[in-house]
Amino acid sequence: MLSAVERKIEQFIVDLNDKEVRALYSKLPHGKRLRAKLILTIAGSGLSVIKTAAVVEMIHAASLLHDDVIDDAYTRRSRPSLNAVYGNKTAIMLGDILYSKGFLELNAISPEVAKIVSNAVVQLSLGELKDVSLSKTFNLDKEMYLEMIYQKTASLMEASAGAAAYLSGKDKTAYMTYGRNLGIAFQMIDDILDITMDTETLGKPALHDFEEGKTTLPYIYLYEALESKEAEKLKSLHGKKLTTDEQQWIKMMMHNTSVIQKSYNEAKVLIDEAIALMDEKGEKALSNIAIAMIERNF
Ligand code: FPP
Ligand code: MG
Repeated sequence: MLSAVERKIEQFIVDLNDKEVRALYSKLPHGKRLRAKLILTIAGSGLSVIKTAAVVEMIHAASLLHDDVIDDAYTRRSRPSLNAVYGNKTAIMLGDILYSKGFLELNAISPEVAKIVSNAVVQLSLGELKDVSLSKTFNLDKEMYLEMIYQKTASLMEASAGAAAYLSGKDKTAYMTYGRNLGIAFQMIDDILDITMDTETLGKPALHDFEEGKTTLPYIYLYEALESKEAEKLKSLHGKKLTTDEQQWIKMMMHNTSVIQKSYNEAKVLIDEAIALMDEKGEKALSNIAIAMIERNF
């Protein structure tokens, strides 16, 4: 079924009638297509469903193109990012083309689907701005972190589930809660993997978040758990290029204080809630997506 989504995206790209855009798009890795998978699993494979999944994946791809420019990231999914190869201007414009074509197609699907998805893209952008602003400070406010990851990542998953539920006449609220929980947990796990995984498995440099100024959940918990001298040391390393010794020190402190486990448990609570919601509806495949998500290691 996912191949129908790939074909639809390719068709939308061909519609643009621009050789350069076709060539650039062919260079993008496809990723896990988690949002498309959610949509198809909830709503089946009708034309509107395939189109919605294609549009959501185009918007997601656009957001990552912009995000890699914003994050100065030169690797994405184990390959040089598009900005690394073609420069920031090309990456930004390809992102603009993908999401504006996505919006054009969205309008032809249904006003309700268009409303749900475009509202999420506003949230996505607000969330990314919040991420940038919070990175300028040593943020220790967990609520701000949670709100930011909800907007930046979970809003599009929540909208994907909501749009799919709408298209298939299912109960929108329950599916949106499922998507929201899945999205927040997804970003929490992403932030944990930045610390626990090596660069090769991640397909991008490890411990990059803290160097970029991002105090993700394990860092917030670590600061709370450390004695004042060590807490000050952690603060002094924030937003800097870390030496191997400094990286080892952070990992050791995280190990000693069990903050990775604490953060993981928090993601697990959200996933268990999502699974319970879907089990209640007999949606085994959606429960399985949630289980696979919490168990992923890349
Ligand atoms: C990845 O976060 C970033 C996002 C999930 C959202 C990015 C959103 C924008 C750039 C807003 C603009 C939107 C459009 C449609 C152009 P991350 O940096 O934590 O994850 P990473 O490790 O995968 O880079
Ligand atoms: Mg990024």
